[in-house]
Amino acid sequence: MSPRPLHFNAFVWPNGYHESAWRVVEDDVRGVLGLPYYANIARIAEAGLMDSIFLADNIAIAQYRATHLPQTQFDPISVLSALAAVTSNIGLIGTGSTTYSKPWELARRFATLDHLSGGRAGWNIVTTITPLVAAAFGEPAHPEHADRYAMAHEFVDVVTRAWDSWEDDAVVGDRAGGVWADRSKLHDPHFRGEYYNSEGVLPFPRSPQGRPVLVQAGQSAAGIGLAARYAELVFSGPPTLEAAADFRTDLHAQVVAAGRDPEHVLVMPALMITLGGTEAEAQDRARQLEELASPDFRWQNALYTAGLDPDAYDPDAPLSAELLSGPAPSSRAEQLFAAARARPDASLRELTDQTSGGAGQMHFIGTPDQLADHVIRWQDAGAVDGFTIMGSTLPYELSTFVDHVVPILQRRGRYRTEYAGSTLRDHLGLQRPSVNH
Ligand SMILES: Cc1cc2nc3c(=O)[nH]c(=O)nc-3n(C[C@H](O)[C@H](O)[C@H](O)COP(=O)(O)O)c2cc1C
Repeated sequence: MSPRPLHFNAFVWPNGYHESAWRVVEDDVRGVLGLPYYANIARIAEAGLMDSIFLADNIAIAQYRATHLPQTQFDPISVLSALAAVTSNIGLIGTGSTTYSKPWELARRFATLDHLSGGRAGWNIVTTITPLVAAAFGEPAHPEHADRYAMAHEFVDVVTRAWDSWEDDAVVGDRAGGVWADRSKLHDPHFRGEYYNSEGVLPFPRSPQGRPVLVQAGQSAAGIGLAARYAELVFSGPPTLEAAADFRTDLHAQVVAAGRDPEHVLVMPALMITLGGTEAEAQDRARQLEELASPDFRWQNALYTAGLDPDAYDPDAPLSAELLSGPAPSSRAEQLFAAARARPDASLRELTDQTSGGAGQMHFIGTPDQLADHVIRWQDAGAVDGFTIMGSTLPYELSTFVDHVVPILQRRGRYRTEYAGSTLRDHLGLQRPSVNH
């Protein structure tokens, strides 16, 4: 049996994913606030025939981030809509919060992107880690982890029903008879749930993909449960090959238990890459980034990405016993709490010294040949269907990936040589869902 093709998703981040990237790239530091920066990245990824580009979403930020990192957390749908106009094939995946949106509003915005892009939209379903959004929205409290996921299940259900509120052939365009769409093919979901009620039909017909592709990146048991029920693409995954293979096997078992086909759930974990023409050059580039890293950023980022407010903690004291005995607000907080319990005298600074920020991704450092070997080894072990590529610097790592890694994978028969279709579902080999009501 010939090997399956690999899939790649490009994670877009200002100047690159490493926290020091903006200090080493030569571009104007304010360039990341303009559309040309995003358009350039999207075009590079499309030239490399990648399945999609991806935008994360931090709705509200802790202020330490403004000191240490470029802050460009625009509304992902607005950016992706602009990118739809300057690309023609690549998938456009944006993050949307189930905790801080209304299902109807989110369904409408992603379906709009799907229409405008000709079927290239994907929704990364997140429950939102940081409690700071509650204050920004004037909410009394950030819901707890279990409640956020319980709400998320119902939220996704409402969204998919909204996407299905028009049958595919509802638009008839009968000029002579004066009938634009057949009203009998519109279906109000009349949804009554524990958290959400929703009535009505979307104010436009079903989108080209039927439903934008559903993506999930949570790593907790509840997050994986949500993925098993709904996701067609999963971005998370543990950092070792064996654990990642077990993760995919376990996810697929849960997918089957939820009555779905594991063939329709792709796993593409995040992988930060630093490339060089020789291994020594790649190591030098990675070392330069690490040497610029700030210990003050590390402890604050460890808290923020775990769902805690860094301004409320003393970096030179251990985490309090009271905090450690309460519920962890995320899977990353669970890991941090476990580390703190194992070293009860360690200060927060000491605990987080070795951690890196971000999405808990692996960091690959090496040559294009070595990276091609790496992704093939992981695919052959049954650990992945592809990767979410995070360039430690951008656009350098992405253009090096496209110019040097992609041709190796193509020669080895592991990667497409042209786009086979025009929608994100086509690229991922996912079926177009039929209307369900
Ligand atoms: C590639 C990747 C991208 C992510 N993007 C976001 C994001 O944009 N916004 C967000 O709140 N969480 C993001 N996350 C975090 C998770 O989606 C999830 O919210 C977090 O891990 C907390 O949930 P958990 O406790 O189930 O892991 C991302 C994770 C990964 C691996």
